[in-house]
Formats: sequence, C-alpha cells, structure tokens
Amino acid sequence: MKLARSVNAARAEVGNAHDHGSSIGLVPTLGALHEGHVSLMRRARAVCDVVAVSIFVNPLQFGPHEDLEAYPRDEQRDATIAKGAGADLLFIPPPEEMKMDDLSMKISAGSPANVLEGALRPGHFSGVCTVVAKLFNILQPQLAFFGQKDAQQNAVLTGMVTDLDFPVGLIVCPTVRESDGLALSSRNLFLTEAERARAAVLFRALDAGRDVLSRSGDIERCEAAMAQALTLESHVTVDYARAVDPLTFETPSERADILLVVAARVGRTRLIDNMLVEGRSMKGRRS
Ligand code: PAF
Repeated sequence: MKLARSVNAARAEVGNAHDHGSSIGLVPTLGALHEGHVSLMRRARAVCDVVAVSIFVNPLQFGPHEDLEAYPRDEQRDATIAKGAGADLLFIPPPEEMKMDDLSMKISAGSPANVLEGALRPGHFSGVCTVVAKLFNILQPQLAFFGQKDAQQNAVLTGMVTDLDFPVGLIVCPTVRESDGLALSSRNLFLTEAERARAAVLFRALDAGRDVLSRSGDIERCEAAMAQALTLESHVTVDYARAVDPLTFETPSERADILLVVAARVGRTRLIDNMLVEGRSMKGRRS
C-alpha cells in the first residue's frame, strides 16, 4: 500500500493508475476506521482495480461546538486496517495541503441539505460537498463508496455529482451493525460502557417505527413510536425521529418507499441511524 500525504504525490499515483487503464475506487473517510469502513474497502476491492482510501478530518463539516478537536485520530491503526482490507493507496493530507480554512469558494449543498441534519448542523453539508469535490478532483475515482448510515449525506452528494456532472458513480453499501443493532460509527468510541449499552435504542426505535408503519402505513404514529422508544431510554435526548422520502428527505408521498431517520444524543455523543421501509411492505399503502 502506497502512502501519499501531498496532493502532488496522490496525483502521481492516480496518473500511474490511469496510464495503466486501471479503474479507481475511492473510500473517503474521517479516519478512526472500523468494520463499516472495511466493508466499503472490500466492496471497492471487488469492483475496482485500484482502491484509494482518504483519511482527512475536514474542519469545514464540523460546527463551532462540535467534536472536531476530540475526533479520534490514530494513523498507525488506520493504516493497518486499510492495508488489511486491500487498500492500494492511502491519502492522508495534512490540513495545510487541503487548505479548507482558506478557500475562496465552497459548494452550496442542494435541497436535501436544508432539513434534519442540515437544519441542525448549518454548513455541515456544504463542508462535506466541498471536501468530497476536492477529493474527487485529486484522486479521480470512477466509483466512490459510502455507507447507508449517512443516508442524507448520500442524497446530498448524489445531487452534487448529478448537478455538477462529476464523472463518479456513488455506491452506497449497507450499514454494518453490532449484534444489538447499533450502527458502527467512529463516534461510538466516545461512549462509556453504560452509554454503549443504551445506544442500541436508536436501532430499537427504528425497528418500532418500521413495525408501526408496516402494520398501519400511518406516518404520524410511526414517528411517535420512534420518539417514544428513544425517550424511554435514560440519558438519551432526541434530536429527531422522522419518516421521510429517501431522496428528498421531505414528507414522503403516498405509495412510496419511506426512510426512517433518527438522531439522538446518548450522554454527550450524538448518533444517527436510519432504516428503509419499502412501500410494498406497508399495509394500506400499496396493493
Ligand atoms: O462520511 C464521512 O466520513 C465524511 O463526511 C466524508 C464523506 C469522508 C467527508 O469528509
């Protein structure tokens, strides 16, 4: 596995791959790699000639009171994991190489960015789009791999590649979960043992919402069931529990698939998760 820290070094590796007619698959990450990232790398390994992994804690996507400084960083461990998962190129640019604090322009994220995560974290999706656009330009992948856990980010990035004609296909891979349903996330590292046990409530809430939706097709009852399940767990504060259209993140239309999305603080750690409920599995919504 090659390591590139500068844009020029990364471009040299990418140029070499392109000269050999190799396809490049990119797994963009914030580091603190876990089995969720490994599943993305394995998927990329299966379908691309060259697997590039980027590790960059992008300051633009963190709000002023968020966990930028505390975000877990362990380069050695990440490199071992990436190599074990079959990565060919690890791009770890230092902040001065990406110049995120000194950009004269940023991408303004499209409409799925205005609600839920976007409304609660102003500027977050603009920061994500801007760094992903830079990574696409530097590493020039044909395919880029993202986890379903970040469903709203995936919808926003889909809008970006479509509207700005990036020649990159986005591949969304299933969320990897612990045995109690907790979605893998680098932020799980912040949880104490007691909070870790409580955190599975996000998955239980989604499951309760799916159950209500499948039986009744009733959005309001579904959202109430998710919020109630979250509220029943101690030291959990609900940010939102919604049933939305999977593409627009607005109120779903009749007879469509529905994405259940939850965000909650477990202690001081903010977690998100989601679950897709197919329209045809909902009583009263489809024949
Ligand atoms: O999902 C993430 O890990 C980040 O938002 C991403 C896509 C690497 C951009 O910094």
